[in-house]
Amino acid sequence: MSLEDDITRLRAELTAAIAAAADQAALEAARIAALGKKGSVSAMLASLGAMAAEARKSAGPAINGLKTEITRLIDERAKLINEAALSARLAAERVDVTLPVRPAPTATGRIHPVSQAWDEITAIFSDMGFKIAEGPDIETDWYNFTALNFPEGHPAREMHDTFFLNPGPDGTRKVLRTHTSPVQIRVMKQSNDKPAAPYLTAAMEPPIRVVMPGRTYRHDSDQTHTPMFHQVEGLVIDKESHIGQLRWVLEEFLKAFFEVPGVTLRFRPSYFPFTEPSMEVDVQCDRSGSEVKIGEGSDWLEILGCGMVHPNVLRNCGLDPEVYQGFAWGMGIDRLAMLKYGMPDLRAFFDADKRWLDHYGFRAFDMPTLFGGLSS
Ligand code: DAH
Repeated sequence: MSLEDDITRLRAELTAAIAAAADQAALEAARIAALGKKGSVSAMLASLGAMAAEARKSAGPAINGLKTEITRLIDERAKLINEAALSARLAAERVDVTLPVRPAPTATGRIHPVSQAWDEITAIFSDMGFKIAEGPDIETDWYNFTALNFPEGHPAREMHDTFFLNPGPDGTRKVLRTHTSPVQIRVMKQSNDKPAAPYLTAAMEPPIRVVMPGRTYRHDSDQTHTPMFHQVEGLVIDKESHIGQLRWVLEEFLKAFFEVPGVTLRFRPSYFPFTEPSMEVDVQCDRSGSEVKIGEGSDWLEILGCGMVHPNVLRNCGLDPEVYQGFAWGMGIDRLAMLKYGMPDLRAFFDADKRWLDHYGFRAFDMPTLFGGLSS
């Protein structure tokens, strides 16, 4: 048999083997069988060395031609196999983009109006330069009453319908805080007690500008009262803080919160042990229609208590009333939410009725910011 015949036969054999390779592994086996160290084409090339010079002249190009051709066939086959694998994968992983997507929990869940109002309130005061602080729900009698200038046995303590805990080993009874005012004490005391109390989220020394949202508790339940409710307390302590600033802060806050261009406030003299003078604040509103409209009309609605911090309270916190003075206020978050969003019954806030929450709740990603809109 001539070399030419050998080449023809081998070409046919290898071409068939390459065409039959169904995947990369089979193709690699065919490549090794032809072009590997012990491959058939390699063996043929090796035989060139033993040939007479004249024979090698024609055999060399013929065998090398075979090698080039087989290499090309393998490359082409590899490309085909890769393309087929990709097509198979694309077909297997095909996504039907026309199928409706099941809504994520973040799209169906709702933010409770109290949380929404809480976030709105803290966003507004943060924007004005206030820090946010929180204190414990379970308070000592001292923080909840005594430090706030409620004398022992004073009837004002009964005003609060306090929930008392069982007496501790020392005989004293802790309370569920009846207001957020004790957090004022914790913030002011913190400027004098070191190290800082761990449950306070903001460390500060005078000048102090802080708002303190939180849960509060009183033995009370009707359409506008629940045993647990929410308040937000405000406190400003500086050397020259005065009622004019208090009035400005409250007006700016209420305008921003109710998203109206203006509010009219009425300050009425009142009594709180921890402020002197003390005032209650009413906001002008219209109650003629089905919903309350803030900033217009001829009605008044009480919304908060405030005053200049009593010198005794400053003294109880280690601050010198000859140097420092300040103002404070406290308001109900639930009540503000009711007014803004028109919920008629406070008790429904805490019924955990999903239908109520679907109706009155807010979408999780609509975070209240002043630049993005509070409630939009
Ligand atoms: N703590 C008072 C309450 O729960 C509200 C209050 C009134 C807070 C006057 C204050 C204030 O800081 O200055 O009824």
